[in-house]
Amino acid sequence: MAKISVSRLTKMKQDNQKITCMTAYDASFAAIFDQAGIQVLLVGDSLGMVLQGHDSTLPVTVDDIRYHTAAVVSTAKSAFIIADLPFMSYSTPEMSYENAAILMRAGANMVKMEGGEWLTDSVKGLVERGIPVCGHLGLTPQSVNIFGGYKVQGREEEQANELLNDALLLQEAGIQLLVLECVPVSLADRITAALQIPVIGIGAGCETDGQILVMHDAFGVSAGFCPKFSKNFLLETGDIRQAVTLYIDQVESRQFPSAEHSFY
Ligand code: KIV
Repeated sequence: MAKISVSRLTKMKQDNQKITCMTAYDASFAAIFDQAGIQVLLVGDSLGMVLQGHDSTLPVTVDDIRYHTAAVVSTAKSAFIIADLPFMSYSTPEMSYENAAILMRAGANMVKMEGGEWLTDSVKGLVERGIPVCGHLGLTPQSVNIFGGYKVQGREEEQANELLNDALLLQEAGIQLLVLECVPVSLADRITAALQIPVIGIGAGCETDGQILVMHDAFGVSAGFCPKFSKNFLLETGDIRQAVTLYIDQVESRQFPSAEHSFY
């Protein structure tokens, strides 16, 4: 299968075809996801929690993401690969250029950053320098200490309007994908409809252009708790490859996420 490009993902949004995404951190799982037809793999800083056992993503370093990106790239031949810029690695535009370059040299196709309006200068600068950017709004786990926990964001009208405005500003600055995490369905629907770029949801209902899950949650093997918005696809199938196929089928047919995995 040909390598997935960002223009293909944009076309999928235009054609109303769901985009399937999963986190991946190593060569073996990346191969399984790639061969099953998952379009986007994210080397997420969630690895700090599910691989390293921390209670947040804050301890993750650029070198951790570089290492796992190289592993994923080695076997994922078709999937589009996004690498997370970890906590405090993009505090200034200059830091974002330097650290994004490390991840792109490791083989990433795009870097992801958490935050709204304050990131627009970095996004413009990265895009001008040839580095594609994915935004991340809603529950941004690197800000867990500001939020006071992993809580649904955008429940109040004012914060919802701010998130919509941030999404529009980031799109204008040049992001080509947006991850939207843990927001009420009504807000996710507004943002998805307002943007031309694909919106990938996690805990954001089934109307976003695509879905992403942390792979350990999708297999029910996370050491901590399994979030309400996730589902254990291994439980129904008992086989990892079949679980991945079931995830793809249920996202494409809009069976996942259902109301029980969504916030209202
Ligand atoms: O780090 C990660 O895995 C993420 C997903 C939760 C979207 O950012």
